[in-house]
Amino acid sequence: MSQKLCIIGLGFIGSEIIKYLDQFRNKIELSAAFDIDKKKMEEIAERYPKVRLMTSITDFDDCDIVIEAATQQVVKEIFSKIVKTEKIFIPMSIGAFITDKKIYSSYEALEKSKRQLIKFPSGAIGGFDAINSIKQIGILSAKLTTTKPPVVFREQRYIKENKIILSANKVTQVFSGNAREAAKAFPRSINVGARLALATLGPEETIVEVYTEPLIKKNTHEIEIYSEVGVYRFSFQNNPSPTNPKTSWLAALSILDVLDRID
Ligand SMILES: NC(=O)c1ccc[n+]([C@@H]2O[C@H](COP(=O)([O-])OP(=O)(O)OC[C@H]3O[C@@H](n4cnc5c(N)ncnc54)[C@H](O)[C@@H]3O)[C@@H](O)[C@H]2O)c1
Repeated sequence: MSQKLCIIGLGFIGSEIIKYLDQFRNKIELSAAFDIDKKKMEEIAERYPKVRLMTSITDFDDCDIVIEAATQQVVKEIFSKIVKTEKIFIPMSIGAFITDKKIYSSYEALEKSKRQLIKFPSGAIGGFDAINSIKQIGILSAKLTTTKPPVVFREQRYIKENKIILSANKVTQVFSGNAREAAKAFPRSINVGARLALATLGPEETIVEVYTEPLIKKNTHEIEIYSEVGVYRFSFQNNPSPTNPKTSWLAALSILDVLDRID
């Protein structure tokens, strides 16, 4: 029998995944969906009449797998029910796992118990096979350097509050700190920092630097890891999604990889 999937958040990532779900026919079926945007719910009802329209973000009792593609706040609001009802959870707004201390400790306890309920997509980065191997010996330092066009950051609260001027001509450093501070400063744009932190040295020790570059067309992420095993550099130059310049296309596709690995 196929597993029932629900998707919370029908923006770029949510709607992109739905397009490709057919490949999992007989294994995973889209059973329910939710977005606060009524128009998006109407579109789903029209295009996928068999999909149940959820009444709230926690209306997922009849589902086996929950994908979150909305906001960090949504993760915070549904997480305790996810754990209590033992759903398989695929979150995109991974920053919530390091900005919310309760979620972080609950996640750590789940990891120790080896109950593999939480399945993080690699998102807009990758290299986690090598990172997991290196981890067995130990990681000395882990750093993420992200560069995006100024438009991604212009309206963000952190930029306004810190009166950061995003130059139209040259590279501007907009942030330097640890992964937890980065996820708080940019709740929508630096989920990759949280993803890297959870796979390496944790939210305090993982370093994040963020830059804007006026002429850049791609969202770039450079990862640098030092270990006794060696030095590792991964570089990702992602095309932004066709409909949301703030999101890398790869991020949506990474969910399909997680679904593919579910038994
Ligand atoms: N892990 C990663 O590498 C990575 C990469 C890109 C994006 N993301 C994150 O994934 C999430 C989705 O990204 P996106 O590009 O699809 O964004 P998007 O803005 O295109 O879509 C988000 C959708 O969520 C809906 N939404 C917002 N609040 C909601 C709520 N309370 N209940 C239900 N729906 C709600 C919005 O109406 C919108 O349709 C964001 O948090 C983004 O930061 C993570």
